[in-house]
Amino acid sequence: MTLFRTSLAAFAAIMIGAFSAASLSPAHAAGGGTKPPAHDWSFDGPFGTFDRAQLQRGYKVYREVCSACHGMSLMRFRNLSQKGGPEFTEAQVRALAADFKISDGPNEQGEMFERPGRPSDGFPKPFPNEQAARAANGGAYPLDLSVIAKARNYERGFPLFLLDIITQYQEGGPDYVKALLTGYEDPPKGVELLPGQNWNKYMAGNIIGMPNMLNDGQVEYPKGPDGKSPVPETAKQYAADVVAFLMWSAEPHMEQRKSIGRQVFIFLLLFAGLLYFTKKRIWSRLPEHAPGAAH
Ligand code: HEC
Repeated sequence: MTLFRTSLAAFAAIMIGAFSAASLSPAHAAGGGTKPPAHDWSFDGPFGTFDRAQLQRGYKVYREVCSACHGMSLMRFRNLSQKGGPEFTEAQVRALAADFKISDGPNEQGEMFERPGRPSDGFPKPFPNEQAARAANGGAYPLDLSVIAKARNYERGFPLFLLDIITQYQEGGPDYVKALLTGYEDPPKGVELLPGQNWNKYMAGNIIGMPNMLNDGQVEYPKGPDGKSPVPETAKQYAADVVAFLMWSAEPHMEQRKSIGRQVFIFLLLFAGLLYFTKKRIWSRLPEHAPGAAH
């Protein structure tokens, strides 16, 4: 009986912990906008992994579209070849880095100079400082995207947040960013937007300084053997791909974390079995119906 009661108490404690963790306000709730639809990501759930080809395409979208305004200050080019990420080859990373001009120096004349990027360089910033970035974007600040996929989230509400504990839903950030990128609409009648303002269904307060940046056919994807891209070259696909890339940059060791989690889970199951049989063995020395004997 005691064992039953203790396990019941432990179970209750875990559930209370999980509920309060799930109902805490997320890092930055994107409240005020429409709830984003859940996308079917390759990295969903305890067995989810990144799709390498998708991460590689996502980098291309970031490079050709987003990097004009948004920096990713936590990323180095060499990260692009690390395990668990897009896994570009080292030669590819050298070429991708060399595609950027990096300001270096000073040289012997005391002047800064530009040189092609190297794998050890960080992703360059599009603007020298926040003021310059705001001045170029009508006062709005294009924030750093290194960890945006984890820094944004939204309230799931009852009863979804209960279900999320079981399904281990953790993709609120990626779902929001993907929806945001394709969520531009005409403002409702009677709403006047100022120059530089745009209407987005999913943005908190609906008014956003970033214009719609993704259009069908805008980024050319690598072709398969039949001369066609294996995925459609559409705004929706670009959004999913760039968000998968941003999710990886926000959590580069996600695959490792999930794999360790699974191993710990199996270990705990085996250990629980072992404890159960050990307990049985120890208590078996007592006669069946002696007072205090466990059932
Ligand atoms: C022309 C410049 C420009 C480009 C290109 C651009 N953005 Fe933005 N972005 C902005 C600005 C400005 C803001 C700030 C908007 C605001 O605060 O109203 C912003 C905000 C954001 C936000 C934050 C929204 C929030 O919840 O606060 C995300 C996420 C984002 N951009 C992602 C992207 C991605 C991904 C791309 C590439 C597909 C991209 N942006 C391309 C200018 C740009």
